[in-house]
Amino acid sequence: MSTSSNIKSFSDYQDAYNASLRNPESFWSSIAESDYVWQKKWDQVCEFDLSKAHVRWFLNAKLNITENCIDRHLTTRGDQTAIIWEPNDPQEKALEISYSQLSQEVNRTANMLKSLGVKKGDRVCLYMPMIPELAYAVLACARIGAIHSVVFAGFSAKSLADRINDASCKLLITADGGFRGAKITALKAIADDALENCPSIESVVVKRRTGTDVRMKEGRDLWWSDAIESMTDICPPESMDAEDPLFILYTSGSTGKPKGMVHSTAGYMVYAGYTFSTVFQYEEGDVYWCTADIGWITGHSYILYGPLSAGATSLMFEGVPSYPDLGRFWDIVDKYKVNIFYTAPTAIRALAQCDMELVHSHDLSSLKTLGTVGEPINEEAWNWYSENIGKGRCPIVDSWWQTETGGMMISPISGITPLKPTYAGLPLPGVQACLMDNEGNEINGMGAEGRLCIKHPWPGMARTIYGDHQRYVETYFSEYPSMYFTGDGSRRDAEGYYRITGRVDDVVIVSGHNLGTAEIENAIDEHPLVAEAAVVGYPHSIKGNAIFAFVQCDEPPDNIEDFRSEVLNLVSQQIGPIAKPEQILLVGALPKTRSGKIMRRILRKIAAGERSEFGDISTLLNPEAVNTILEDLQATNH
Ligand code: PRX
Repeated sequence: MSTSSNIKSFSDYQDAYNASLRNPESFWSSIAESDYVWQKKWDQVCEFDLSKAHVRWFLNAKLNITENCIDRHLTTRGDQTAIIWEPNDPQEKALEISYSQLSQEVNRTANMLKSLGVKKGDRVCLYMPMIPELAYAVLACARIGAIHSVVFAGFSAKSLADRINDASCKLLITADGGFRGAKITALKAIADDALENCPSIESVVVKRRTGTDVRMKEGRDLWWSDAIESMTDICPPESMDAEDPLFILYTSGSTGKPKGMVHSTAGYMVYAGYTFSTVFQYEEGDVYWCTADIGWITGHSYILYGPLSAGATSLMFEGVPSYPDLGRFWDIVDKYKVNIFYTAPTAIRALAQCDMELVHSHDLSSLKTLGTVGEPINEEAWNWYSENIGKGRCPIVDSWWQTETGGMMISPISGITPLKPTYAGLPLPGVQACLMDNEGNEINGMGAEGRLCIKHPWPGMARTIYGDHQRYVETYFSEYPSMYFTGDGSRRDAEGYYRITGRVDDVVIVSGHNLGTAEIENAIDEHPLVAEAAVVGYPHSIKGNAIFAFVQCDEPPDNIEDFRSEVLNLVSQQIGPIAKPEQILLVGALPKTRSGKIMRRILRKIAAGERSEFGDISTLLNPEAVNTILEDLQATNH
């Protein structure tokens, strides 16, 4: 089993890329064959019809991903640390969990799931802080073939309930509370609210973490420690078909409710592992740290599945970068001599504003590779990261990918492909990226800008939206027939390097979190005084983007400050604090087209600070609305 990449030079990259273009099937089958263990090999490598969003990889192969992430390492690296767990409070004891211990914990947790009646194919919702039990629970689901649906522990009761109901989850695993810096989130209490409306949930397992008082419902709720107490650490892995779903993970879309992206077992595993080893050039013994939360795809693919399949040591951090002070990240890098560090531009921008003593007082010389993900990184932040954290000697892999893609798609390969600040660079082997214009034509040639699409399936791509395949087809495969449309705009320079310019739809990325503007509008519309709301993103120096809500009321609120805080509360309750608008402006009217659609293009410009140059507004039903908004803005000193 190889744990390192076969790509060692730029020409290796070119050879691999060309091989993947010539024959994607043999390219991926040789990786699948050499890097993973299978209970039964595939009969066919790939079958697809993108017009129907029908994609299958490694047909009829049988495997269990936990055999690849855990069992096969036991003979060669049982005592090696699989997961370093760093708690929120630096005074609390950290854990170094070896592959053998991970195996025992995952097996016991798997047996606990079984004892609660969870079977292959059942959906299990995990609403947990970043504690080892979250990792055990994810892997335990995979062990028995249950489909995990991790819901980020910052989401509200309503968001949690929607996700539980969408997938009819049978079991919920949560904690009494979660530590985030100086704050405690009362997870069980939020879960209790959610469960008022979740008929499919039969049992709730609660891990004690914060000691927060909780209500335990007789016959439904049980403590993790009690439920797991008598479980053995032997649980044979379920035999899974290559295409059996491994997990569901929700992501926001331009319209409607969040989409439950469904990832397959074999294709996802091969893709997460291959991209991990290749992009980071992980070497035996390296300590690797991805700062994401397991509630997002980055945590799934690059804290757990990718690193563990490669036999790596992966650091999992419970806390936040600002606690106990803004030097915490660098403290952890120093403490564990982290070699590879993967984070988000928003964290870099925030940390770049701090007292540099917080950086300089730590020894960062162990770092070899730095990564970023989640949103475009501006040049200033890139340079700061490179100079102050990488000390000018660590490559920065600015990796572009999505919840839907399962793993990295366009990214530098550390130390191998040339770097250009703010560019994600060249597509990884197996990724046939292209740019399309608004009329549906491919833009050939270099030095172009368009909408980013992918022409050929790759193993890690999502297979469907849970319960709504038609929506999957319409969202991703209809705009450009027989291609996957990413929803992102991109530039391609003279040498074929891609620079992602941002979303071209109504998704706004705030501090690396995808937010659907329609969802936020729906939350604001719940306010009894609100007639209509329009939400757009605008550039923000730390968060990348922030949310601007233009709100039209039936009658003016008595107290504008109370009204604003009621709106913020509504958004927090309906979605979560991450979706709260930075700015709320009461307006007399919203600019609409003759067909009644809000003209967001104009609102985006206003939110970004423009006060004239709105382009052609002749198609507006009410062009005077634009001036009214500008007056409203002036009246509130915006
Ligand atoms: O707009 C792109 C942006 O994040 C979106 C995907 O968000 P999500 O599904 O939450 O996954 C985030 C982690 C993979 C993309 O459509 N994005 C992600 N990475 C980059 C990026 N934009 C620019 N540069 C990146 N490196």
